[in-house]
Amino acid sequence: MRLRNLSRIPASEITDEAVYRDRRRLLGMLAATPLLGLSGCAEAEPPPPPKTRVSVAQARAGFGTDEELTRYEDITSYNNFYEFGTNKDDPSRAAKTLRTSPWSVVVDGECAKPGTIGLEDLLRGIAAEERVYRLRCVEGWSMVIPWTGVPLGEVLKRFEPTSKAKYVAFTTLADPKQMPGLRYRSIDWPYREGLRIDEAMHPLTLLATGLYGKALPQQNGAPLRLVVPWKYGFKSIKSIVAIRFTERMPKTAWNELQPSEYGFFSNVNPAVDHPRWSQKTERRIAGTKSKLFAGRIPTLPFNGYADQVASLYAGMDLRKWY
Ligand code: MTE
Repeated sequence: MRLRNLSRIPASEITDEAVYRDRRRLLGMLAATPLLGLSGCAEAEPPPPPKTRVSVAQARAGFGTDEELTRYEDITSYNNFYEFGTNKDDPSRAAKTLRTSPWSVVVDGECAKPGTIGLEDLLRGIAAEERVYRLRCVEGWSMVIPWTGVPLGEVLKRFEPTSKAKYVAFTTLADPKQMPGLRYRSIDWPYREGLRIDEAMHPLTLLATGLYGKALPQQNGAPLRLVVPWKYGFKSIKSIVAIRFTERMPKTAWNELQPSEYGFFSNVNPAVDHPRWSQKTERRIAGTKSKLFAGRIPTLPFNGYADQVASLYAGMDLRKWY
């Protein structure tokens, strides 16, 4: 199987649907020839984060937007959740049977109080908040989503991370009995993601439990998913069952699969194209324009959250640490 040569097609003609099909084809190709995925990983460890602190007030300015919301039916029927299939409408059909209760999360690694904790206990006493965030997928589409959730940092603090905790790793459930997509060894399951500790503790980073004031539907990552609004959507890992504090940068699923295309940081950046498509614009799925008729708009650095998060990357070359 070969990738279509996208470089010969004018960028204006490449729709994100083509991009998405291409990304999916990559999965099949890499599964057939595993060594292809193992190219191009530069040095493993980036420079340490700068010592700047972001205040809650600074971050709060990024908590809302008056942009048109994406419709509930679009948010819940146009999904990426490869554990349930690679078509956009697979998760809404196949994830209905995912059992989300009881649910517990294993928290371990570099922390004083590791443990396995039930979802209710994990969130107990932390006030749920509504956050309207833009979600920008690496494939070139975006939505505006009213999430309900709690700041991830509030949850992480309970486990008392040690000074060795430089990163946080997250793992999705991988149950072949409930997740039909797992029979394709495209991604090396379970789906894994990670953040640097300061990114995880940033007030914008949310552990979401709902959207539009309702419980999170399975296809959107019930009962508990990450939302990191300044990063490409694949960082926002769904249906989390494990959180680990680590000293070294954790391995993550898409980065492992194709490191030259999916970096660890993956901050939304219109100045750094994906090797096979432009990241300068996005197809905004919002308002009454359904996903079929959405228009393209410019993509903003850090997905429009630069005022809140750019200082986390002071002194880092974002072309290198994409
Ligand atoms: N988490 C898991 N476990 N599996 C996935 O396939 N897809 C990611 C991310 N989290 C994914 C995942 C991608 S590529 C995106 S764009 C978002 O989920 C999509 O979230 P949504 O379907 O709620 O819009």
